[in-house]
Amino acid sequence: MFDFDRVIERRGTHASKWDNMTKLSGIDAKDGIAMWVADMDFAAPPGVTEALKVEIERGTHGYYADTGTWAEALCDWYVRRHDVTFDPAWVSPTPGIVSGLGLILQAVTEPGDEVVVFPPAYHAFRKIILANGRVILDAELVQSNGRYAMDLEALKSQLTPKSKIVFFCSPHNPGGTAWSPEEIRELAQFCQEHDLILVSDEIHCDLVYSGAKHTPTITAAPDVADRLITCVAATKTFNIAGAHIGACVTSNPELKAKLDGRIAASGLGSYNGFGMVATEASWRTGEAWLDELLPYLEGNRDMLDRRIEAAAPGAKSMRMDGTYLGWVDFTGTGLTPEDVAARVKDRAKIFASPGQQFGPGGSNWLRFNFATPRPILQEALTRLEDAFSDLRA
Ligand SMILES: Cc1ncc(COP(=O)(O)O)c(C=O)c1O
Repeated sequence: MFDFDRVIERRGTHASKWDNMTKLSGIDAKDGIAMWVADMDFAAPPGVTEALKVEIERGTHGYYADTGTWAEALCDWYVRRHDVTFDPAWVSPTPGIVSGLGLILQAVTEPGDEVVVFPPAYHAFRKIILANGRVILDAELVQSNGRYAMDLEALKSQLTPKSKIVFFCSPHNPGGTAWSPEEIRELAQFCQEHDLILVSDEIHCDLVYSGAKHTPTITAAPDVADRLITCVAATKTFNIAGAHIGACVTSNPELKAKLDGRIAASGLGSYNGFGMVATEASWRTGEAWLDELLPYLEGNRDMLDRRIEAAAPGAKSMRMDGTYLGWVDFTGTGLTPEDVAARVKDRAKIFASPGQQFGPGGSNWLRFNFATPRPILQEALTRLEDAFSDLRA
């Protein structure tokens, strides 16, 4: 029903992914391929376009009134797709998840407090922690059976009285790990024992492939609900990141009041109307689109894994349960990280995210966003085959 093969020219449309490429990577956008930031090159679900058209055609674009339908749509979606019951009264909209994380830090920690992250981890975690004058406490993930695992024993010895909060990414970015209920329960128990607030960033939860399952943290560990804030959004799932709307969800009224206090203090209690309309429409109308997108992305994942490992002997693509961000370890090629980066950037003209961005454990890796029409992905993989051809001679 939906044509994910259709190539939409995004250059010159204010698409950060394509129009920031030259500035950030030095690759000429004319013939470069953007495989970095996490948005997709597909059109959003038609129901989103329709809802925005109604707004545009009416022509009145005044302040948005939250009449409660938005949080209802959110809750309907999560109960339907993830069998998790959120109460609309637990939901605080924020201008995106990253801004929500910053507001949470301001609400429940002090400058100088430590924030646990599990690197390699989404680079914006690091940036927002530092920008708020808090300190990163890296609990490096370990690899076990080709996937990531948390080492809570090691983390225990790193904690100090300043350790206050954990940024948990579920499913994990990068690496795409869908954490098991047991892993989540162990982390939740750990937070209980050490009096840590647990922030569960579940922005990628809808993008999980066959054979894997996302478990909401509140489902796996309902007993920690009082110290839990779950961050969710429609923006990643339905490719509307420019809408810049996210949600922080907590059943603890005191925690919510603190967060809402920071939202009010920042003048963020009134929302971007286009973003609210687009996100509500996506939850209400986007299901069929998502159900067709997932197998398409899964096909892209499999193609990337297969061809990249064949292109650069020794490279290993982490088998991803979810997300559309391929995570490739080039250590086994014997090339230096600089050599790999130069081949990908200068020979293939592909802008991938450098692994160092994700903190400890990322340095020999590159992250490739494969949420793009297959003609573009195939061209990118052909270029990578050329860029590493001497290794196969
Ligand atoms: C784990 C994670 N959280 C948050 C975001 C961004 O959220 P937002 O655009 O709502 O700030 C991303 C985007 O890649 C992400 O991967």
